[in-house]
Amino acid sequence: MLKEHKITMLGTGLIGMFYTKTLHNQRGKDRVHTVYSRSEEKAKQFAKEWEIPGWTTDIQEAINDPETDIVVIGLPNNLHKQAVEMAAKTGKAILCTKPLARNAEEAKEMLDIVEKAGVFNAYLEDLVFPPKTLKSLESVERGELGKILWVRSRETHGGPHSDWFWDIDQAGGGAIIDLGCHCIEIARNFIGKAIKPVEVMCWADTQVHPIDAEDNAIGLVRYENGAIGQFEVSWTFRGGMDLRDEVAGTDGTIWINHFLRTGFEMFTAGGKTGYVAEKAESNSGWLFPVGDEVHELGYVNMFNNIFNALDNGETPMESFYDGYVINEIIDACYRSARSKQWEPIKLQEWRGESKVEGPGKSSEVDEKYLLIKKERMPDGKTKLIMKEKTSGKIVEKILTQSN
Ligand SMILES: NC(=O)c1ccc[n+]([C@@H]2O[C@H](COP(=O)([O-])OP(=O)(O)OC[C@H]3O[C@@H](n4cnc5c(N)ncnc54)[C@H](O)[C@@H]3O)[C@@H](O)[C@H]2O)c1
Repeated sequence: MLKEHKITMLGTGLIGMFYTKTLHNQRGKDRVHTVYSRSEEKAKQFAKEWEIPGWTTDIQEAINDPETDIVVIGLPNNLHKQAVEMAAKTGKAILCTKPLARNAEEAKEMLDIVEKAGVFNAYLEDLVFPPKTLKSLESVERGELGKILWVRSRETHGGPHSDWFWDIDQAGGGAIIDLGCHCIEIARNFIGKAIKPVEVMCWADTQVHPIDAEDNAIGLVRYENGAIGQFEVSWTFRGGMDLRDEVAGTDGTIWINHFLRTGFEMFTAGGKTGYVAEKAESNSGWLFPVGDEVHELGYVNMFNNIFNALDNGETPMESFYDGYVINEIIDACYRSARSKQWEPIKLQEWRGESKVEGPGKSSEVDEKYLLIKKERMPDGKTKLIMKEKTSGKIVEKILTQSN
């Protein structure tokens, strides 16, 4: 039975707008009922634009609104924990944007707060919910790709749109905390959230901007079953927002391009086009607009999943625990970037499987040989490359009609 929810929205910035747009775009009855902003002018204007009945510059008043049952946190990273502390006291459901926190210690405190208070909690990771990703995850769950060996996830753009992101104290880091959190969770979903992430190797550098945090990074997250999650993040990329995922399994491959090549390409000489897509750098020449951005970025499916879970007393696909795991992985990335070594992921609490098989097992050709590779050659013959089990010798054999 679907219930009708009234929401307190904390923040009137970019994400507050995307969340509200998603919720109000639908014909469903869930609505933002109260909005909080530091600035009276912004709060009033946001409330007017989205037809929200209440606005306030007092965060406590917004959270305590007796008519709302959900608090959505869309504030800068350094304000997430305080908002969670305040909201947990009301018993309302708490939905927090990414990253959950600036570091794992803060994230664990937030996880403990919501779990001790017994309140419903969801981590707002939209990028595991794009329609293409959900369909890909279903294929992976059905085993269509075999065992997942390697997931590459890339999010790069020219850098964030507000001052606080660039301040390491308020944000907790740079491109890794801001964008890597998405990529890490995308890979976790494909590899399997029950599989423990064990260690990371990460390169991070400040290549362009005069900031203390990293503006570019690459990381490898190794999982207990041998699978690898690879992330690539940048705040210096030119040409818009590059959002791509690649999944490689023993039996298949998926490539997803969410933003720059979605099958919608347009040329205009005039530059009269308005908004093209988030972080687009130009509105003339060849353009790569995104059809329904809130849907294609996963916001619609994300809120559906969370609100359905809330109504049915279930755990949403992404909870504060997931946010905590991501923060632990990110902390290990920062340690690795400094030490230039593989660094262990120090999960204080692991809720997944404890022992898992390694990925990719070779198949038997017969009692003597294991198959390494089967290939159809240009001359039409099929060749088998095999390993002799007892000697370990690698041999090849051309298949004839009879075998
Ligand atoms: N895809 C996503 O899930 C996604 C995308 C963008 C941002 N985010 C996250 O959302 C959060 C907000 O990011 P944003 O892009 O909306 O930022 P923003 O700068 O556009 O908006 C931030 C909001 O917080 C308010 N604010 C700033 N400093 C404040 C302070 N000291 N006290 C009270 N309010 C303050 C601003 O007035 C504004 O309403 C961040 O945690 C960010 O990582 C998530």
